[in-house]
Amino acid sequence: MAGAPGGPGEAGPTGSRLVRLSCRACCAEADPDRPQGVCATCGSALFAEYDLATLDGPAWWREVAGRPPTLWRYRELLPVRDRRNIVSLGEGFSPVLDLGEVSGAPGLRVRAKDDGGLPTGSFKARGMAVAVSRAVELGLPTLFVPSAGNAALALAAYGARAHRSVRVYVPEGTLPSLVASCRAYGAEVRSLPGTLREVGAAARAAERAGSGFDLSTLREPYRVEGKKTMGFEIVEQLGPDRLPDAIVYPTGGGTGLVGMYRAFVALRDLGLLARFPRLYAVQPEGCAPVVRALREERPDVAPWEAPATIAPGLLVPAPFAGARILEAVRATGGGGIAVSDASIVEAMRVLARDHGLSVAPEAAATFAALPALVDRGDLRPGESVLLYLTGTGLAFSIEGLAASIGARAGS
Ligand SMILES: Cc1ncc(COP(=O)(O)O)c(C=O)c1O
Ligand SMILES: [Zn+2]
Repeated sequence: MAGAPGGPGEAGPTGSRLVRLSCRACCAEADPDRPQGVCATCGSALFAEYDLATLDGPAWWREVAGRPPTLWRYRELLPVRDRRNIVSLGEGFSPVLDLGEVSGAPGLRVRAKDDGGLPTGSFKARGMAVAVSRAVELGLPTLFVPSAGNAALALAAYGARAHRSVRVYVPEGTLPSLVASCRAYGAEVRSLPGTLREVGAAARAAERAGSGFDLSTLREPYRVEGKKTMGFEIVEQLGPDRLPDAIVYPTGGGTGLVGMYRAFVALRDLGLLARFPRLYAVQPEGCAPVVRALREERPDVAPWEAPATIAPGLLVPAPFAGARILEAVRATGGGGIAVSDASIVEAMRVLARDHGLSVAPEAAATFAALPALVDRGDLRPGESVLLYLTGTGLAFSIEGLAASIGARAGS
């Protein structure tokens, strides 16, 4: 793979400190240098562990600051071992934008980290860049993912760049432009009925006997490692002493929240971070299993019945690693909040008109959540908050989404 000098693509070790995979549920360990899905003992998610003792935190952080502005600057804490295996489209280091004080949230300083400009238009590029690179390293020829759309698009693009065979499974009704783009990247697209839950189950059944490796959210250990870079970047871009008090994140499968939390823990363990921002999970009122589990103080996330929302990436009624999502929110002192589809569409309008930001409905949900978080006292005057804008809105018609809500209300 061609790469910038000193960046991805050159032969030679990355310096990755990856030592093992481990299961947080049953403490089983797995060999990271063989392909691994879920924990072989209990079926939960496996997570990468790194030998931090061999890294001098402050010296490493200073060195990182001088590297090219992609997520590979954090390569010691990413799983890819040889630079030759890095599959890159230049992902990472998205801008943090100041929105100042916004209507509906007086007294708050609001900033936004905008991943809409990443390759394929969403933060999914982070996870797929790392997972596909690692799949190349482990010699996996065929990759598949069930996805609401953005992860499919990202896998299709990175798979094309890596010359891997890719199959994506998407719910019927996924934006036709997105399906067409997946095909343009050379992926095989299979459209199936139901939400991500049903599509995921059907995809895994169809692939069981085949050669395809499953890149479903948190059912393999490396996409979440790519998402970790969201947290590294926030700390690097704002500085450990000027972090936001809170980060508001649109939550579907939860890799973003889990990934950011993992980043903060790693930086704390390296002596680089003393205080964590509070993490808030935003979900639509029509599919809010994480918010409900937080409100009811449950140890895990129960499936949401009859899910419905205009935000495809948030239509995840039964997130696979619910306990890990709850852990990230609770350990940081954050919380959960549900927003209506109508407020999401209104937030898309305001972000475009007043701030020049065209964002996906999932991303707009973070802005829509501000008034309720202020009303509830979760966000207090004088505090600063960072909205994580996970994807571009360029493929969406705001008026089309508004009409679909109207049609649903009338039916
Ligand atoms: C634009 C967008 N935002 C947010 C999400 C939810 O992501 P997570 O799995 O990190 O909760 C998705 C998932 O598809 C998405 O496409
Ligand atoms: Zn286990």
